[in-house]
Amino acid sequence: MAVLDQLTSQEAMDLENKYGAHNYHPLPVVLTRGEGVYVWDVEGKQYYDFLSAYSAVNQGHCHPKIVNAMTSQAQTLSLTSRAFYNDVLGKYEQYATSYFGFDKLLPMNTGAEAVETALKLCRKWAYEVKGIDENEAEIIVCKNNFHGRTTTIISFSNDPVARKNFGPFTKGFIKIEYDNLEALEDALESNTNIAGFLVEPIQGEAGVYVPSDGYLAKAKALCEAHNVLFIADEVQTGIARTGKLLAVDHENVKPDILILGKALSGGAYPVSAVLANDAIMNVIKPGTHGSTFGGNPIAAAVAIAALEVIKEEALAENAETLGQLFRSELNKYIETSTLVNLVRGKGLLNAIVIDDDEDSETAWNICLALRDNGLLAKPTHGNIIRFAPPLVMTEDQILDCVHIITKTLKTFEL
Ligand SMILES: Cc1ncc(COP(=O)(O)O)c(C=O)c1O
Repeated sequence: MAVLDQLTSQEAMDLENKYGAHNYHPLPVVLTRGEGVYVWDVEGKQYYDFLSAYSAVNQGHCHPKIVNAMTSQAQTLSLTSRAFYNDVLGKYEQYATSYFGFDKLLPMNTGAEAVETALKLCRKWAYEVKGIDENEAEIIVCKNNFHGRTTTIISFSNDPVARKNFGPFTKGFIKIEYDNLEALEDALESNTNIAGFLVEPIQGEAGVYVPSDGYLAKAKALCEAHNVLFIADEVQTGIARTGKLLAVDHENVKPDILILGKALSGGAYPVSAVLANDAIMNVIKPGTHGSTFGGNPIAAAVAIAALEVIKEEALAENAETLGQLFRSELNKYIETSTLVNLVRGKGLLNAIVIDDDEDSETAWNICLALRDNGLLAKPTHGNIIRFAPPLVMTEDQILDCVHIITKTLKTFEL
């Protein structure tokens, strides 16, 4: 079969099942094209994308400005490695550091790599600046976190499926309850070897858990008081998704280390980054860390364009307005629903919680029905469905989506 032959959905799924590792359980739909808030399957059916590749496609599918930046850079210079300088990386670093308000940026490719980078940076700072004895540093993390899939990252996950038979694990992490300041304070006070606190401002994969108002600001203050780095993993929540440029901006928190990925490229290319000020980032010296592809010219050009689009199209403001509308419209339905308990979220990162147990098939079956009705979403658990459309949506479109969602949910009411 020639690679470019047009496949039916069934043929494409059969190929993935036969020749690909089974590390995902995709919704049965085979997409071939995307534009803005829409995607199309190989049979030509159009859908609203209500996942945005886990919040990577905030700027909408195939945004022309991002595609132009990518194709024109790809035709000029794609990869030099960091053995040599290139003439785009510095411009990107200057643009992004001033955009987010940090002294320096360390470029990587995927979210997990950026999290790994932040952990290494935090440990090195702890030994070389804070003065913790070598190999003694601890980093506080939260229960039900999701920070990626590397061995070190799953070492502090409490998802049994993500961990089972992948040990032995990396030491040096202390797990506390999310959204619990007392637990954080206890952990900080009971141990003098704490280097950092790694936190998602909203726990996305766990089911869009929004912490109590003031949690992030108070957690940051506790970290400051103990000379511990506050590390914000904004891979999913960052870049306008929650109605502000960063989710920590809702509480005017400035992290010591900021982790970005996903929408840093608008979903066009794997681009991630770690940002910090000189007092922290300067512990990184030649040879201590790196990546062949990190900071490549295409990534740099794409990221500049993707960040420009966020500002030019006021996507944070749009996410805030449409998020309010989405939750208030869904709440009208929930008032009389026996199926859906609540909708929660910020901006356009939301989830509904279904009145069923975590291991049920209900959320999956609802997602199949949503697909049939022209909207693609995915459960985070058996009873939670995340709703995260591209931020380029219009008011009419979001109301149309609310209509599809409520119409579908009604068919599952008892
Ligand atoms: C908060 C958070 N951190 C890190 C990651 C890992 O990113 P990647 O899949 O690009 O490695 C994710 C992915 O969903 C995430 O949501």
